Amino acid sequence: MKKYNFDCVIDRNNSGATKIENLDTLFGRHDVTPLWIADLDFAVCPDIIDALRKRLDHPVLGYSVTGDDYWDSIISWQRRRHGFELQRSELAFIPGVVKGIGYAVNFFSRRGDRILIQPPVYHPFRNVIVGNDRVPVENPLIFDGKEYRMDLEDLQRLVEEEKPAMMILCNPHNPIGIQWDADTLRAVAVIAHKHGMVVVSDEIHSDLVLHGRPHIPYLSVSDDARATGIMLAAPSKTFNIPGLVSSWMAVSSPKLRTPFYHWLEVNEFSAPVQVSTIGARAAYEHGEEWLDQMLDYVQENIRFATEFCEREIPGVKVVAPQASFLLWVDFRGLGLSQQQLMDFLLSRAHLALNDGTMFGTGGEGFARLNVGTPRCVLREALENVRDAVRELK
Ligand SMILES: Cc1ncc(COP(=O)(O)O)c(C=O)c1O
Repeated sequence: MKKYNFDCVIDRNNSGATKIENLDTLFGRHDVTPLWIADLDFAVCPDIIDALRKRLDHPVLGYSVTGDDYWDSIISWQRRRHGFELQRSELAFIPGVVKGIGYAVNFFSRRGDRILIQPPVYHPFRNVIVGNDRVPVENPLIFDGKEYRMDLEDLQRLVEEEKPAMMILCNPHNPIGIQWDADTLRAVAVIAHKHGMVVVSDEIHSDLVLHGRPHIPYLSVSDDARATGIMLAAPSKTFNIPGLVSSWMAVSSPKLRTPFYHWLEVNEFSAPVQVSTIGARAAYEHGEEWLDQMLDYVQENIRFATEFCEREIPGVKVVAPQASFLLWVDFRGLGLSQQQLMDFLLSRAHLALNDGTMFGTGGEGFARLNVGTPRCVLREALENVRDAVRELK
């Protein structure tokens, strides 16, 4: 068994990393630890680099075709990891999950149509809706102080009253890390099918379900789900290759798929990019051991951060995630306004985190912490928060 080293601190300066390059623009300073945007600070699986390097040994980078091996690698991965069967005909390449959401929004809805989201949720959902002159309808998650759940009663009411053309589901849910269970997904699908609502299920975090559990794809739960669902996924979060912009889409229903895939094709939105597919295939074929070890490391980081907050930072609590490397941290116990909290994190704890309010309703008093980083970086960041909180008191 190969052993990968996730403790190694890699200098990401001068690599065009958004996490670092956008610090000044977004946070107004550069001298802070960047634990915000959702990529990992770990070196990717070497097989991915090798596959890319091998292609670059050839001096011509002309137009390219994508062989069956690429599609087979996706199908085989889903079968092995999640027990989920996909057909080649259901799949299409997309150059990024958010772009895939944009394509679906443009194809399946019109200006002025309502589109349902479940805040606090990944902020580009709202941006795509509003930016395309559609109207967001909010079905906020319910928080009992410990766990979040979907408000299915409110969802039913909203769908009946507002008649949204579409719902954008985050499965698993970012920023909270909820793994939706099959009953909840089935209930969503019943409502969606009854009212003719398309469900765009963003499953980019699906391979990052923790504690060895399989992911439950929306398309897998029922006939209603297959009739309404558009699944979006990618190896990008999983294997830390978002810079390769390699994603894919799956649609089971021919009624949805045939016209949509035709539109994607004629516009060449779904034309595979060679470098992306090479990286994706190498990841799916050779990255499993790397992923399992990475998830173990992240799980340990989550445990470390949770216990550290419980023990050493009164007023700061981690909401336990079931998936991914993002922690939804409850700072409400500090009694600060959101502006004060973000100023405090930045100037006193020297930490750049995502402001909870960027995820919409329910984000007040929270911030999102990316723990996909070496433990020593995480430890120092949490110690800085602890020391800053002590000074605050
Ligand atoms: C839920 C979710 N969807 C999509 C993305 C971005 O995907 P892409 O870079 O493929 O557009 C992210 C990145 O953080 C995400 O968390």
